[in-house]
Amino acid sequence: MDWHRLCAEGDIADGCMCSFQVGETHVVVCRVGGELRAFNGICPHRGAMLGQGTLDGQSVICPWHNWEFDVVTGQGVTNEQSSIAVYPLKVEGGEIFVGL
Ligand code: FES
Repeated sequence: MDWHRLCAEGDIADGCMCSFQVGETHVVVCRVGGELRAFNGICPHRGAMLGQGTLDGQSVICPWHNWEFDVVTGQGVTNEQSSIAVYPLKVEGGEIFVGL
């Protein structure tokens, strides 16, 4: 696993999402209840950008057909057969790094 710097920790407010392209991986970072979370930003249904959707508690809701995913576990809520990858994060020196 390699760690990739994304942004300053202060750039992600609680309840907000930010999208990043890391190589070929689209990563979305959000802060839920004060905790930073990272997940794959491509919806497994038809490929919408989840970072353009809505964050509702610890769920992200896809902007195209409203499928919902748990950003902590990656588990699909609307369709339990679906899921998104979740990634480890660390903060060092006030900067957020994602492990891919
Ligand atoms: S593309 Fe996300 S729910 Fe259809």
